[in-house]
Amino acid sequence: MKKSTISIVSTLAVLGITTMVIAAGGSPAVTDNLQKLGMHLYNDKNMSINQNQSCRTCHHHLAGFADLKNHLAPYTSVVSTGSDGVSKGGRNAPTAAYAGFSPPLALLGDGEYEGGLFWDGRATGYSATLADPLAEQAQGPPLNLVEMAMPSKEAIIGVIENSSYANLWYKVFGNNSLVNVDDAYDNFARAIAAYERSADVTKFTSKFDLNRDQFTAAEKSGLALFEANCARCHSTTVAPEVPGPLFTNFRYANIGVPANPLVPVSPDLGLGVTVSDSAQDGKFKIPTLRNVAMSAPYSHNGSFPTLEKMVNFVNYSGGFTPEVISNIDPNVGRLNLTVEQVKDITAFLNTLTDDY
Ligand code: HEC
Ligand code: HEC
Repeated sequence: MKKSTISIVSTLAVLGITTMVIAAGGSPAVTDNLQKLGMHLYNDKNMSINQNQSCRTCHHHLAGFADLKNHLAPYTSVVSTGSDGVSKGGRNAPTAAYAGFSPPLALLGDGEYEGGLFWDGRATGYSATLADPLAEQAQGPPLNLVEMAMPSKEAIIGVIENSSYANLWYKVFGNNSLVNVDDAYDNFARAIAAYERSADVTKFTSKFDLNRDQFTAAEKSGLALFEANCARCHSTTVAPEVPGPLFTNFRYANIGVPANPLVPVSPDLGLGVTVSDSAQDGKFKIPTLRNVAMSAPYSHNGSFPTLEKMVNFVNYSGGFTPEVISNIDPNVGRLNLTVEQVKDITAFLNTLTDDY
């Protein structure tokens, strides 16, 4: 854990983040022009080929910053639909909140990987100009054919030029800042990342954060069980400069999630493909559990439509055939928790929802 703490701190230092701004009592959470610009870009449907999709479509606040359509129909809709209305991606959209703490992808001394973004870590953070996995990630969807499907960076810069927030852009980045397309696309990504890190998205305002002494008996019991069974991966330690735990140690694991018949791409080898190493096959990023009660369905392929079903699986995975049988963590799925204990853990997870 010590190692990842250091890398979080250094990542934050690289990004020049010295203080976290937390929204309090109705004051605006988006505090500076860079964040405000990012908010416009994040919500702008003109950033998609059919002007019908923005980042928010698939990372909506009403779904814990995951896909709203899937959230409303988690039994039947598990992967996102692209701007063309037909193309489907191969994975369940994770939350865009709290993602900004993930350090760049790195191989640690114990042979395990840490950091990066996407379920498979392919937003590595290695881009020299951005040096930030979150900003690097933001450059993917607008040009992705099964997502926003814009034809080119030029087209995206054109949208900014003709937008209602063009003046704000020039104010933040300067008068000639749309001339060099690559530089402008880096700035596009930096602004979106600033918004995703702002207290409008990354809030730390759950019952767990604000009112832990009001926990019910079930929530208390759930927290203790969580510490004992889950926190080695969904970490509860707090790094310096971060207001609270992020419920991930930024590492990867194969917990034996079954293939989902609704997802065409299978088997999905996850991290193994990103790093070209079969010793990592089947491993996926350990997700944050903040706002998890709002972001159904669960796991990289949406195999679990409810939180209780997901926690039941983590407790006992017997009866499920893993999508990838290699590199499975031997402990997950064999926790021997009682029905009552699973309920308590689920009650605890419900305290991680923001805007308490
Ligand atoms: C069509 C739906 C869709 C759109 C539009 C979309 N995303 Fe995503 N997003 C996804 C999916 C699906 C994944 C997971 C893909 C994977 O892991 O391979 C993802 C992953 C992410 C992640 C990684 C989170 C993590 O913990 O690894 C972030 C951050 C993110 N998106 C932000 C954005 C931003 C910013 C935009 C707009 C520029 C955007 N997304 C547009 C569906 C979408
Ligand atoms: C060995 C590390 C590890 C342990 C221990 C672990 N998890 Fe996870 N958890 C993961 C990984 C990895 C995923 C994503 C797996 C995938 O999609 O294939 C995950 C996914 C989840 C999800 C779905 C989140 C989402 O947004 O889709 C929930 C909920 C969850 N775990 C809860 C728990 C609980 C509760 C415990 C303890 C009872 C626990 N986990 C123990 C690694 C772990």
